[in-house]
Amino acid sequence: MVSFIESQFPVSKLSKESYKERKANYSQTLTGLGKWWGRKPLILCRAAILGLLMPASTDPKRDRDIFLKVLTMDEDGLVSRKTKSIALKRVWELCTPRERKEYFKEDSDETAARYKKGTSREDKDALQKTVFLRLSYDDRLEYCDRPEQMAGPSEAAWQEINQHLGTAAKNLPELVQELGKRRFGHVPRVGDAFCGGGSIPFEAARIGCEAYGSDLNPVAALLTWAALNIIGGGPKVAEEVRKAQEEVYAAVDKQITKWGIEHNEKGWRADAYLYCVEVHDPDSGWMIPLAPSWVIGEKTRTVAKLVPDKKHKRFNIEIESGVSDEEMKAAKDAGTVKESYLVPPPMLNAKSTPISVVRGDREGGYGLRMWENDDVVPRPEDVFQERLYCIRWMETYRDDEGKEQTERHYTAPTKKDLEREAKVLELLRERFVEWQEKGYIPSRKIESGYNTDQPIRERGWTHWHHLFNPRQLLVNGLFSETISSSKREKHAKVLLMLGVGKCADWNSKLCKWTPAPGSEKTEQTFVNQALNTLSNWGNRSLITIKDNFQIAIYSSLAVGGHKTYVSDARQISDDCDVWISDPPYADAINYHELSEYFLGWYETPIMRLFPEWYADSKRALAVTGADESFRKSMVDCYRNLAEHMPDDGLQIVMFTHQDASVWADLALILWASGLRVTAAWCIGTETDSALKEGNYVQGTVLLVLRKQNSDAVAFLDELIPQVEDEVRRQLDSMLKLDDQEDPNFGDTDYQLAAYAAALRVLTQYKNIEDIDISRELNRARERDERNPIERIIEDAVRTACDFLVPRGFDADVWRLLTAPERFYLKGLDIESHGEFRNGVYMELARGFGLTEYKLMLADAKANQTRLKTATEFGTKELGTADGFGSTLVRHALFATREVVRTEDVHEGKNWLRNEVKSYWESRKTLLEILKYIASVGSHSEYWQKDAAAAQLVAGAVENDHV
Ligand SMILES: C[S@@+](CC[C@H](N)C(=O)[O-])C[C@H]1O[C@@H](n2cnc3c(N)ncnc32)[C@H](O)[C@@H]1O
Repeated sequence: MVSFIESQFPVSKLSKESYKERKANYSQTLTGLGKWWGRKPLILCRAAILGLLMPASTDPKRDRDIFLKVLTMDEDGLVSRKTKSIALKRVWELCTPRERKEYFKEDSDETAARYKKGTSREDKDALQKTVFLRLSYDDRLEYCDRPEQMAGPSEAAWQEINQHLGTAAKNLPELVQELGKRRFGHVPRVGDAFCGGGSIPFEAARIGCEAYGSDLNPVAALLTWAALNIIGGGPKVAEEVRKAQEEVYAAVDKQITKWGIEHNEKGWRADAYLYCVEVHDPDSGWMIPLAPSWVIGEKTRTVAKLVPDKKHKRFNIEIESGVSDEEMKAAKDAGTVKESYLVPPPMLNAKSTPISVVRGDREGGYGLRMWENDDVVPRPEDVFQERLYCIRWMETYRDDEGKEQTERHYTAPTKKDLEREAKVLELLRERFVEWQEKGYIPSRKIESGYNTDQPIRERGWTHWHHLFNPRQLLVNGLFSETISSSKREKHAKVLLMLGVGKCADWNSKLCKWTPAPGSEKTEQTFVNQALNTLSNWGNRSLITIKDNFQIAIYSSLAVGGHKTYVSDARQISDDCDVWISDPPYADAINYHELSEYFLGWYETPIMRLFPEWYADSKRALAVTGADESFRKSMVDCYRNLAEHMPDDGLQIVMFTHQDASVWADLALILWASGLRVTAAWCIGTETDSALKEGNYVQGTVLLVLRKQNSDAVAFLDELIPQVEDEVRRQLDSMLKLDDQEDPNFGDTDYQLAAYAAALRVLTQYKNIEDIDISRELNRARERDERNPIERIIEDAVRTACDFLVPRGFDADVWRLLTAPERFYLKGLDIESHGEFRNGVYMELARGFGLTEYKLMLADAKANQTRLKTATEFGTKELGTADGFGSTLVRHALFATREVVRTEDVHEGKNWLRNEVKSYWESRKTLLEILKYIASVGSHSEYWQKDAAAAQLVAGAVENDHV
């Protein structure tokens, strides 16, 4: 039974839904539980599972409509998800003149619109719906809740769904169970052996599957357990854990208040502390506090000023708020650390020194003294001292009307404040040994590694607790201690423990202070996937850390049975009908290293609450890297998963789309694991900010796989024509299904489909005579070396490029063009759709087999890539014998440029007549090119003049006579 996802997938709409989910930030359902890197959007997991379970019928269009209904991504579903009102002004804009006349006051316009008096509620609602459906899919989503926030499809939708699928479901779990029984004879068992934050098992259980989630890493398993049992535990569990959080927070607050370490003499409570490191400047001999800028708050216009104390050769730090523009600028420029250099204040007349020199780095070793376990602050002789330089206080008072008001004040620490700092240290020292023994604070050494070497090298920190200052250790340790003595159930204890993890993430010496307006707060440690040490950082007080500790639970019942455990994917022994996984493949995140940051806090409670687990990151077993040993581990993992699924079982492997070599490698791995590819789809899963960083086609590829059961063997040569046929067949079916008005597939999807088609042909064989799979996998490769599979994939993409004639271009003429010409014209097409990502052009060039395409680009920046216009080309590359210079497209561009330059259409026509050798025979092709340039160019702001000129040249050529 072919699955829906093996024949089609609504990639465009799913990308938009994934994007919406990502943009929800901390109100995503699972992310609040704690940091995990590379979490997958839940909507993507839901669609993947349903896509596997739902059969493909002989009516693909109806299949698609029904699939969208199940996901509430069809029109009715979107209307039911619409929870926000469209602003009246926007409603007016979207109305037809007739509707405006009927419902709006006459003086309404785009600046102010008002309904006519007496417009009924029903009319207003109907109008909201009408104009909502006139919006694009993306724009509609702005007014909608996410599918997971809905009860599911409407009754009417269920009727249609059941009729098409021959089911009798009233909700998603019933549908899933019926489809599972039909396909596998029982409720479908869905597993993920690389479950990370738990998106896949959580979503599987939520829609009614039996879910299995395991991960090598106990921090990941803990997050998955919490997703399934706490978020998925229903309202009673949510209430129980909420109460436990309040109870613990109140107890900690009471103790801190009693200690008096966060209150001042005026009764104000601190809400943030700012610390910086201070170093001895080898040139001037002064102690210099470090910060890249001394601006503290852009909105409050708060700055720190370094005031020299000549006697002690150090600086006092004064804090001022509400300063002038000049003072703000001065504070910004006064940063004492810039691009890894210590930059002494100008008044010292001293030269800058590389921080590595300050540290005393030397070849083959670190320059700093290595901290010992019981060092919780630097020793006086250490290079990096730590210094509190600013406190933000909250003053609470009653206004004239008796209402409670708060006001924030930034101040430099006073003598009393420094005494409180000393008290914090004393309190910590008193408990330090006991707390480490009991596991309330970390005691593990930092093991060397790619990411973990950074704090060791840059600060001499050797143990995980060195990444926290005494205040942070004391407050976090107090949380751990209070939780440990709480009498609550396992669910509550797990969530409380995750609360401590969140406090650790949001309150360490690696938490950047951001002065940006609307912000003026500390960031989390893991803003990225590194352990970057800082010259100055923010320290949250208890009241600021409250929201981090008290994790908000968006309760959503996990109806299916479920199981979570720690395991190496090579050791899994449960059978599943479906395995869906997102392995650490080409994502370059060192999960095993980064997670140790949290393990220090979780270790003891994990062993108490989950005695059957281990509390170690198992670095040696983590799948990581990209070399032969990585490939071998992947084969071992996936072979084990293939062995633990039935013959009709299905798998999806997700990975980030990179290039053909990554693909080819993964294909080899999966093939060698006993799997064959049946389809592949790419979903955009990145948000804007992530997109900005990359220069690649961003997105997650879903590779659909089945067991490889055949004994057939083939030769490479035989495969080429088979691949070509399969590529054409695949693209044909996608083109037929696609909607001109609301396209589902873009160019990258077609290319991807070509990759997948090639792999489908290849992996259906047990073996290819001329490819030794295990040899290919096990040998080390040279950089840029291509394996035979890569070549087949590239051939497939080339076939796809030939096949995909740009819309509106004559197919016969297209075949007469050279590769650079096709690249150029297709590039224009892409640009006219507002696509400026460099990766897309790169892929396109690869598809046409071009290496020298950069000459054609006006801009090659990541998200601003576009082709040169006719005018921008000028005379460049014209007439060069090989490549693009002597092609018809190049001549057409030059003729266009001449018309723009001289404003005389004859100049353009004459150029073509004189320079194109076979002008009369090539006239049809030239015309097609010019008309195409004119039509797609007119959609681009860069092309306005050139497109009009191309149209004129086309007219002149068309009417030309001998
Ligand atoms: C990309 S993440 C999975 C993210 C997950 N899909 C989510 O949505 O949060 C890959 C995971 O593989 C895990 N991993 C690495 N080596 C492993 C192994 N040998 N066995 C099982 N899991 C492993 C890592 O700990 C990491 O959590």
